[in-house]
Amino acid sequence: MKIVSFNCSPRMGSSNTDRIIKPLLEGAREAGAEVEEFYARKLKIAPCTGCMTCWLKTPGVCLQDDDAVLVREKMMEADLIVLATPVYFFNMTSYMKNLMERAIMPTALPFLTQANGVFGHPTRFPDKTLDILLVANAGFWGEDVFSPLLHTLERCRQAGVDEEGHEHMRFVGNILVGFGEIMQTEPFLHFFEPFFEQLRGAGRELVETGGLSPATSEKLAEPLFTYMNLDEESAIKMANTYFETVLADLE
Ligand SMILES: Cc1cc2nc3c(=O)[nH]c(=O)nc-3n(C[C@H](O)[C@H](O)[C@H](O)COP(=O)(O)O)c2cc1C
Repeated sequence: MKIVSFNCSPRMGSSNTDRIIKPLLEGAREAGAEVEEFYARKLKIAPCTGCMTCWLKTPGVCLQDDDAVLVREKMMEADLIVLATPVYFFNMTSYMKNLMERAIMPTALPFLTQANGVFGHPTRFPDKTLDILLVANAGFWGEDVFSPLLHTLERCRQAGVDEEGHEHMRFVGNILVGFGEIMQTEPFLHFFEPFFEQLRGAGRELVETGGLSPATSEKLAEPLFTYMNLDEESAIKMANTYFETVLADLE
């Protein structure tokens, strides 16, 4: 299995996103996957200009010749794409959005379709479905924190199902981690060893089954303070005490 992973946190190697995907990809490699990793911030990808060249002038090819071409090639070659983002303003980062707009838009055709009453665009490559694992982490926790991101991606998935039922993209599971910012505190990392171990197992599961079971996603969705044996109230208190201390030190 060929996996290509895009870490869309601007913090790149010091991101909580990296702390999550490293063991995941390690597990996938152990199970025999060939894995290629990219930091979205390191890629030179200019924002979409909306010129529609990729749809109407040079179909399938963007006017801007930058790293989006490489991303598109890697996505098309891969059996599985890992899209990993911290939650920013209750959605994906601008790095991930940019990557999707520039790398995925040219793989769609301009025609309007309405499958099951839902508007979309057919794929240019009906023999290829982009299989995606979503990895997201947030400062907050709970379903409502991740739901706008999930909703956006689910609507994009629906837009890629054409009248013949071809799927442009498909989500093969998700890893949604609440209270993720705690992983910036190095001395606490040992608490999360069981979580990292579960991630290694999830990486193996990805290769063995092509996705993650709802049970695995559910297990990984436990907010990280639970690994510290804290309840919600204590976690909030701990976070706020930390912020107060940092701000007091500035005075
Ligand atoms: C600009 C910005 C916006 C953010 N918006 C949210 C948000 O809407 N909800 C949330 O729970 N956390 C939010 N966060 C917190 C991050 O999701 C959190 O710190 C995360 O652990 C960062 O992950 P990373 O190290 O992989 O970048 C935001 C952080 C930044 C810098």
